[in-house]
Amino acid sequence: MTPPDEDTKRRTLWEGRLASPMSERVRSYTSSLDVDLRLLPDDIEASLAHAAMLHDVGLLDGDASQAIASGLQRILAECDAGAFAVSPDDEDVHSAVERRLHELVGEPALRLHTGRSRNDQVATDIRLYTRRTVAALLDGIDSLLSTLQRVAEQHEHTAMPGYTHLQRAQPVTLSRHLLAYAAMLQRDAARFGDALRRADELPLGAGALAGSTLPLDPANVARRLGFSRVAANSMDAVSDRDVVAEVVFACALLMVHCSRMCEDFVLWCSAEFGFMSPGDAQATGSSLMPQKKNPDVAELGRGRAARVIADCVTALTMLKGLPLTYDRDLQEDKRALFDALDVSADTVGVLAEFIDTARFNAGRMRAAASDPLLLATDVAEHLVRGGVPFREAHRIVAEMVRRVEAEQRSLTDVSEAEWEAVAPGAASGITGLFDLDAALRRRGM
Ligand code: ARG
Repeated sequence: MTPPDEDTKRRTLWEGRLASPMSERVRSYTSSLDVDLRLLPDDIEASLAHAAMLHDVGLLDGDASQAIASGLQRILAECDAGAFAVSPDDEDVHSAVERRLHELVGEPALRLHTGRSRNDQVATDIRLYTRRTVAALLDGIDSLLSTLQRVAEQHEHTAMPGYTHLQRAQPVTLSRHLLAYAAMLQRDAARFGDALRRADELPLGAGALAGSTLPLDPANVARRLGFSRVAANSMDAVSDRDVVAEVVFACALLMVHCSRMCEDFVLWCSAEFGFMSPGDAQATGSSLMPQKKNPDVAELGRGRAARVIADCVTALTMLKGLPLTYDRDLQEDKRALFDALDVSADTVGVLAEFIDTARFNAGRMRAAASDPLLLATDVAEHLVRGGVPFREAHRIVAEMVRRVEAEQRSLTDVSEAEWEAVAPGAASGITGLFDLDAALRRRGM
């Protein structure tokens, strides 16, 4: 068979009923190729499964299905080699693949789109992409968790002030502080897992919106692509983007957790705190001030959270006014999805390195945690053990704090007799409370 000329090709594949080719401006405005080209491996994977199913149900003969499969594999190889050439006529990754397949194998390529629409195709591609990319992100979260756990282990007994309202509150350990973030990250990982379980459903077979009159076998495709079920409602399958919204939200919350961790690190790296110092290879200098060593990594982690929150807002606002079913607005989901996943993976990766190579100044932390005022609650709770009602104990200690501050003394200067005078019968042993390590042990740290 002779290959069709350029004009025929374009008309055959894409023009449909339109009498004139798309204007350049419209083509450029509507094209998503610069964003969705990265779906190419997923698009090929889905097309291979679709073509195999078409063969299984008798809609493609052996030769055509062979030709399609080898053409698709060749496109994948071109893509892997960085040799896949896009054409200015390609509207998106799906049309680019189909156009290239047609160039490579001719007539059989015209049969690949049987029973399929770009609507169920893109919904499928997004799920495949999400599945593989989230798996990589989860590995990154795992590494960050290991780093946090390793540093926490080294600092199991490193005392530091715990803060509320950014005021020193009670003594904690660096381990407890870092593992708080580990707990958040573990929930983030679980959230991605939940989203993936809900995304484990094949949209392909939904067609443009109403399924197909052809004897397709979506369960066959689901099996080939490793989905555990087929979407039950074709209109839902092509129009919802829960997958995107959920994953981007999970990214946004992950980034918010990272951002708070970054904010702690920025504070800790300041001379005022002096708790932490980044590795030289993980810090930045100033173009003007020769002495500077800046924690830009932590600042950018904080700043990029804004971007991912915006991606989440994009996904939700894109969806909120759309009538069923597919609307082209949905094309905008990918920029948000890709950006959120990219930024999240970059951030967890660089934070693991930042933490791994940082020095924590245990001496400065301990000094900051050694203010006896941080143990005022311990004194109140000691009085409670002596039978004083908590609210009363709170008042007694607060009055003592006021008194010692006015007299420029410390809580450790207050004698047992002085405590006995304000809390009769409950003060025995109070002066022994002001040992920092014992205070941490009392809290199971
Ligand atoms: N590029 C489109 C998207 O990302 C693919 C689906 C286009 N479907 C259509 N009917 N125009 O959403």
